Amino acid sequence: MDNDERKVAALQGGDTPIHEKHLPELLERYRNSRVRFTTDLAEATRASEAIFIAVGTPQSETGDADLSYVEAVACEIARSISSYKVIVEKSTVPVYTNEWICRALERNGVPRQLFDVVSNPEFLREGTAVVDFLHPDRIVVGADGNRAASLLQDIYSPLTTGKYYEVADAIAGECGASDPPQLLLTSTKSAEIIKHASNAFLALKISFINAVSNLCEAADADVEQVARGMGLDRRIGPRFLRPGIGYGGSCFPKDVAAFRSVAEQLGIDFGLLTEVEKINAQQKKRFLAKIRSALWTLRGKRLGVLGLAFKGETDDIRESPALDLVRMLLAEGCNLTVYDPAAMPRTKEALPEGSNLRYATDAYTAASGADALVILTDWQEFAALDLVRLSKSLRYPIVIDGRNLYEPQKMVDHGFTYLSVGRAV
Ligand code: UGA
Repeated sequence: MDNDERKVAALQGGDTPIHEKHLPELLERYRNSRVRFTTDLAEATRASEAIFIAVGTPQSETGDADLSYVEAVACEIARSISSYKVIVEKSTVPVYTNEWICRALERNGVPRQLFDVVSNPEFLREGTAVVDFLHPDRIVVGADGNRAASLLQDIYSPLTTGKYYEVADAIAGECGASDPPQLLLTSTKSAEIIKHASNAFLALKISFINAVSNLCEAADADVEQVARGMGLDRRIGPRFLRPGIGYGGSCFPKDVAAFRSVAEQLGIDFGLLTEVEKINAQQKKRFLAKIRSALWTLRGKRLGVLGLAFKGETDDIRESPALDLVRMLLAEGCNLTVYDPAAMPRTKEALPEGSNLRYATDAYTAASGADALVILTDWQEFAALDLVRLSKSLRYPIVIDGRNLYEPQKMVDHGFTYLSVGRAV
């Protein structure tokens, strides 16, 4: 159920409103059987044993998560409950939200024995959401009663027993064999904190490696080697140690801020998170300085820009560090020709084409005649460019790569001046 009629109509017609691998085939397969779409919340509530709340919890001006959508939907659900329901909170929310949902339901006249509220945070990433869902590292269920916990255990049993269905089977097989995930039962408050703490920790890992990348640049070392050496320690692990232009997206920036704010409200000094945010903001400025260092002055320079999405394989531009850099470069007086495989339609709404900003149809057109090429998003296709063709397209063979997609030596061998993050030129 969604109150966005256009979205529901698109889904009913078989269109997926977001760019997400495997989602179209899943929808096609189940659209007219096990999944249907509606704008009628009362109907959806009546038809269901469990109701998952998955609404946005955007950042408010104070840094807190804005929970008004969660409250609104809880009050609306309350109006349609006439038999026992499990309300499953899936949105990223601060600790104590479940208690507030309970209170909202009771204040709206739902007897306590007719519902339980469970916290079931989601850990999937955009772009790999379907595979992440089918192959999670863990499933967390925060429930304060057995009845609700056992319903959630039933719902997730295809994943925890490794018995998928049809198409899901084929998609799951794509990732190779892996052990079924553990379903971890916790209290509702612990589950709420697990979500915030996990996202904040991943953001911390990224800021840490970005700080190390700056140190590597100063010491003439190679951050890719350092990250590999660190990641081989199983206590550290290799993932989320990729340096770049800072983390973005609709989750990490708002969740770090919200977690910091939760800590503050509970009287805990979590200054570490402030540093995480500080390093992340600095990383973009450092990259701008790097572009300047390659080009001397920026005003009037023509740059090809690859990447607008907040990360590769998605069309999402929310809190995109790539877009922040595009804005910074425009403010410096550069003329940009940008290209992104999926995020251009969304970007055009935020940044319409103009005399200093053009949208290209492919990477080589973006590079054509440019004083330098800037890589801002880690799309796989940007890591596989024809370097001879690229070199011929550019006015000067200069590449400034914010995602370390190329081996520096290979770029030098092809005649490029190549600047990347945390690696010697
Ligand atoms: C993130 C978490 O990874 C998910 O576990 C979580 O469920 C989700 O938020 C959420 O809370 O909904 P997502 O925002 O889709 O997922 O994207 P990530 O793949 O985590 O990337 C976030 C940002 O960090 C991107 O800008 C990416 O480029 C950057 N990043 C990631 C790095 O700079 N280096 C890395 O090593 C990894």
